[in-house]
Amino acid sequence: MNPLLSRLQPYPFERLKQLFAGITPNPAYRPISLGIGEPRHPTPAFIKHALAAAMDTPGSDLAGYPQTLGSPELRAACAAWMQRRYGLAVDAATQVLPVNGSREALFAFAQTVIDPTRPAVVVCPNPFYQIYEGAALLAGADAYFAATDPARNFAVDWDGVPESTWAKTQLVYVCSPGNPTGAVMPLEEWRKLFALQDRHGFVIASDECYSEIYFRDEPPLGGLEAAAKLGRAGFPGLVAFTSLSKRSNVPGMRSGFVAGDAALIKQFLLYRTYHGSAMNPVVQAASTAAWNDEGHVVENRNLYRRKFAEVTPLLEGVLDIRLPDAGFYLWAGVRGSDTTFARDLRAQYNVTVLPGSYLAREAGGGNPGTGRVRMALVADTAECLEAAQRIVQFVQNRS
Ligand SMILES: Cc1ncc(COP(=O)(O)O)c(C=O)c1O
Repeated sequence: MNPLLSRLQPYPFERLKQLFAGITPNPAYRPISLGIGEPRHPTPAFIKHALAAAMDTPGSDLAGYPQTLGSPELRAACAAWMQRRYGLAVDAATQVLPVNGSREALFAFAQTVIDPTRPAVVVCPNPFYQIYEGAALLAGADAYFAATDPARNFAVDWDGVPESTWAKTQLVYVCSPGNPTGAVMPLEEWRKLFALQDRHGFVIASDECYSEIYFRDEPPLGGLEAAAKLGRAGFPGLVAFTSLSKRSNVPGMRSGFVAGDAALIKQFLLYRTYHGSAMNPVVQAASTAAWNDEGHVVENRNLYRRKFAEVTPLLEGVLDIRLPDAGFYLWAGVRGSDTTFARDLRAQYNVTVLPGSYLAREAGGGNPGTGRVRMALVADTAECLEAAQRIVQFVQNRS
């Protein structure tokens, strides 16, 4: 067996299962989960119709093998969206590649980029999305977890990464808007990271799958947008990962795309051709329709905005919480052990939240998720409100 498999850490939800083993939740309450970050707003009907119609359309039906590069229509739709959303002119032929959801792409990208014959470090934010760590380890690299600063809206402390680590760094994952913090990386942070990139020659993978769910007037800055603003023509060493899962409520469709540095995209396409990661043609057709429509995205964002506007004030009184920049999580300080909080809440009120320490690693003398829990406000507003009311009671009763 590949010995690197043994370096993989248990996924946060496996750890949650263990934490809850032996608990009998209070039967007076029906279960509510704020645990998993899976979109639960309905899939727009026009996307389902596009999927069904493609089945009977020669060229996009199931009768042929799809190309890894994707259809020209899909790549054009992705490029047009980049233009509308970020004002960027990306070349649909060389700077865009469809992927089967951003998760597989974030993983596969490390396998494409990392040279394991040299010392290899992958820098991830801490807390982070666990795929980054697994991708680094299976590529034969070590993961370095860079601290984030709660006092600076959870900005990654790039200055705190030692020079000796940067010297070995081949890949940096950026997660903006962040999971679990919801923080958007501002232009000045990008400027700093690009300066480090110029000095040390690493590649940047910018994970932006929450970019369309935001609570401020201004939409989140994208990595490629930041590069363009800072005069980095051609996005050297930078690839952004975008997804329909959250934007269009189609997590089951497995559809996203990457865009950026044409030289990296070319090598990624080569890797993906061997890996066999072409997108199903029917999914390509439905994805084209989804990227070409913005109305459903505005509606979806408004749903989240109304939900967060109702739920956040309720919890603000009892937890260290505030409206995030973007995303669909509350990253709540619980004043005490996050695992005890999650266990007791489940036992007494049948509400599931994810302990923050499961989403981060011990680094620099502590685990930055300790004392926090992640709540995914993915269910409808009534259910999230009921969960919040139970949490308020729970906190008031325990203090
Ligand atoms: C930070 C982050 N990146 C990527 C993904 C993967 O999303 P998908 O594969 O559905 O595009 C998720 C999913 O929850 C996520 O939270």
